[in-house]
Amino acid sequence: MSAVLTRPATAEQLRAAWCEFFAGKAHTVVPSSSLIPTHPSAPMFTNSGMMPFVSYFLGEEPVPYDPPRAASVQRCVRAGGKHNDLDAIGRSLRHLSFFEMMGNFSFGDYFKSDAIPWAWEFLTEVLGIDGDRLWITCHLSDDEAEEVWADSVGVPRDRIQRLDKDNFWEMGETGPCGPSSEIFWDYGPDLGPAGGPANPLAEDRYVEIWNLVFTQYFRGIGGELTDLPKANVDTGAGLERILAVLAGSPSLYSADVLSLLVEEA
Ligand code: GLY
Repeated sequence: MSAVLTRPATAEQLRAAWCEFFAGKAHTVVPSSSLIPTHPSAPMFTNSGMMPFVSYFLGEEPVPYDPPRAASVQRCVRAGGKHNDLDAIGRSLRHLSFFEMMGNFSFGDYFKSDAIPWAWEFLTEVLGIDGDRLWITCHLSDDEAEEVWADSVGVPRDRIQRLDKDNFWEMGETGPCGPSSEIFWDYGPDLGPAGGPANPLAEDRYVEIWNLVFTQYFRGIGGELTDLPKANVDTGAGLERILAVLAGSPSLYSADVLSLLVEEA
């Protein structure tokens, strides 16, 4: 495993570090696609990095990557539909209507025992983020994810919490979905009370930076869940949020890219 040579400080450097890391794990790096998705089950806007790949998750089209893995830095809009952050924008320092999501995807290939250690390796070894300030949440049903975090990665169990709906990610009212495991950065006691991300009063202190979704189900129009043909991985890491962590600021507006716009304004 590599030591940190140069800690990314700009959006360009972070995008490059992401693509290089996952290319090194045999992922095909795919360019960002349109903000208007094409799949019939998709919501109005591309709200996450997985959306261009819906037909691969559903087994409707053959996966064109060998091995069947991809990584991207996808432009996203969350201004309507299921993942609508409009009410929080301007009121929090961490929500944006338009942002970039870094993602790695497995289409029936690797699963939790690879996706989880790779996320830790990228954050702590490539970016040099202090692992002692990272917290983890897993779905109530997902003992397997907690075991990987605790036993393979070595995260202390008192920094792993189990949640219900907050750890079940769905693309929209219909579409691929599954239990998820989220990684949070602790901005410290100046930003809120203790208790980890499970404490609803501590949302400004523990900020989610990366969501690992174990995409095993399809949500149909009647709300029913059916198994997908294969178990998949869909992760989403917030480019602007990680830049803010690297800059030591809880405000996305003071990190690279947005700070330039703020200064110009
Ligand atoms: N698709 C994972 C996420 O948006 O969090």
